[in-house]
Amino acid sequence: MKRRKFIQRTSLSSLAVVTGASALACKENETNKASEGTIPITPHSIPLVVATWNVKDATQKAWEVLQKEGTALDAVEQGCGIEEANAEGQSVGLGGLPDRDGNVTLDACIMNKEGHYGAVVYLQHIKHAISVARKVMEETPHVILAGKGAEQFAVSQGFQKENLLTEASKKAWEAWKIKSEYQPIINIENHDTIGMLAIDKNGDLSGGCTTSGLAYKMAGRVGDSPIIGSGLFIDNEVGGATATGLGEEVLKTVGSFLIVELMRQGKSPQEACEEAIGRIVKKNPHFKEFQVGYVAVNKNGDIGFYSIHEGFSVSKIQDGTFENIPSDYFNKS
Ligand code: GLY
Repeated sequence: MKRRKFIQRTSLSSLAVVTGASALACKENETNKASEGTIPITPHSIPLVVATWNVKDATQKAWEVLQKEGTALDAVEQGCGIEEANAEGQSVGLGGLPDRDGNVTLDACIMNKEGHYGAVVYLQHIKHAISVARKVMEETPHVILAGKGAEQFAVSQGFQKENLLTEASKKAWEAWKIKSEYQPIINIENHDTIGMLAIDKNGDLSGGCTTSGLAYKMAGRVGDSPIIGSGLFIDNEVGGATATGLGEEVLKTVGSFLIVELMRQGKSPQEACEEAIGRIVKKNPHFKEFQVGYVAVNKNGDIGFYSIHEGFSVSKIQDGTFENIPSDYFNKS
């Protein structure tokens, strides 16, 4: 079977499965005929935006971009940028909790419909890490820039340096230093890495992922978020996936790539997210001590999401309506 036909068939089979977002409306008038003429495909409504956690403003921003004929790439960049500029969010951009030395260090990546990718790791003093990642993708021959080099590149591209350690995050760090106990907390303040996936009106996908990483991490630590296939993966023929939670566990299982490949093989986004979480809990007997959550979307606009523990949720706009939907989860004990 030709690859294209195979993908069309697997996409169709996924429609039979109720996703985690269940009850997604189908648009009758968007029913397509496969271009080779044999298989009808009924996409759920597009465009759409999905993101990890309850990030209404960010999701709405991305949706607005799509409504103004922006691309999925523009949508995820500008949507993630809202959280990066929000000083109250302590896990992304400005106001992110620092490492144990008091430095706010950011990781981010972005991936477009052509499969191009750009990332920054250990970026300091520049809040819009996702936009720097996009510049890496579009303006350099490389895919990842780290640390000082990433900062210098950002400045050369016109980004302003600023102090990202807010008073609130400084106070939290100073309180942490009293005991200096390092224990990743499940659902840190119920708001962790922002991963965002969008499909634009042309049916093209892009994704972005941005974070300040684990609070009070060791200096130099990089998580899953900027690493292709772990924190984010997009294949415009199949779908996309993104992750939140303890990056070390996502990295060890290359979770987002795994989810996209499972969708390619015919699993629904929901089934694929559940299997990716299953791989983590099977391999790590300490899964009760950390959280990981995934959200995925396939080319038809079917959405799935799943986490290890209760507390994860996703933001979604399809048909113009914002929803924050609690995720199903593995650990029911
Ligand atoms: N998922 C974000 C991190 O572990 O850095």
